[in-house]
Amino acid sequence: PIRRTTVPQIAARKGGEPIVSLTSYHAHTAAIVDKYADFILVGDSLGMVMHGMESTVGVPLDLMIMHGKAVVRGTKKALVVVDMPFGTYEESPGIAFRNAARIMKETGCGAVKLEGGARMAETIRFLTERGIPVMAHIGLTPQSSNVMGGFKTQGRDEDDWPVHEADAQAVTEAGAFAIVLEGMVEPLAARITKQISIPTIGIGASSDCDGQILVLEDMLGLNEWTPKFVKVYGDLGPAIERAVSQYADEVKNRSFPSEDEVYR
Ligand code: KIV
Ligand code: NA
Repeated sequence: PIRRTTVPQIAARKGGEPIVSLTSYHAHTAAIVDKYADFILVGDSLGMVMHGMESTVGVPLDLMIMHGKAVVRGTKKALVVVDMPFGTYEESPGIAFRNAARIMKETGCGAVKLEGGARMAETIRFLTERGIPVMAHIGLTPQSSNVMGGFKTQGRDEDDWPVHEADAQAVTEAGAFAIVLEGMVEPLAARITKQISIPTIGIGASSDCDGQILVLEDMLGLNEWTPKFVKVYGDLGPAIERAVSQYADEVKNRSFPSEDEVYR
């Protein structure tokens, strides 16, 4: 059996061959992504992408576990990382451990991801020292969108850079094995990548990051609108619409099912 990519293998890619990553929420897309990605993130963006929520704040732990199980079942090669949803880790390291352990035990994933820099350092250390690898996530942190007043690119004002740099340093020292840099100006992401010893995974960040991640449905063209940082590699939205409209026409004019699709 093919052994999955491990957390130390991802950590060792600092400054090396770029780390390839995408999100996946279900078994069949994950099986395709698994052929090319070093790690697959079961992101809490699934609340918006799959369940029509307006932000990730409402995503329940059980939903993350359900999708996490599906992705682990559908894959064999990539490291699977599952997002800790809002409200399941911020309160204390102990609560974070309990919920992260549930995610690990019930899904079989290899690591968790949580949002926050210096303020989450104590929790990252607590989890890591007790057997739970943590990927950190700083910059634009969607779970804080109610405080930030929306989804805002970070670091436009150079005076804010030291705060983000300190966040990256704090999670590194706390033992995070990698860090997502989301929605920050390019020179800041490049600078942080040079400053810290763990791989940076960029999304709306910089090509200098040690790896990149995108939301699969965004890059496949399933969403009508995508932010500037998304490159749309597929046209699944229009392709699905063509198929569905042709099916509807053929049902109405009774050309489906045809001879080929019925049992005589
Ligand atoms: O939930 C998610 O999809 C994420 C990635 C965008 C990093 O956290
Ligand atoms: Na997320």
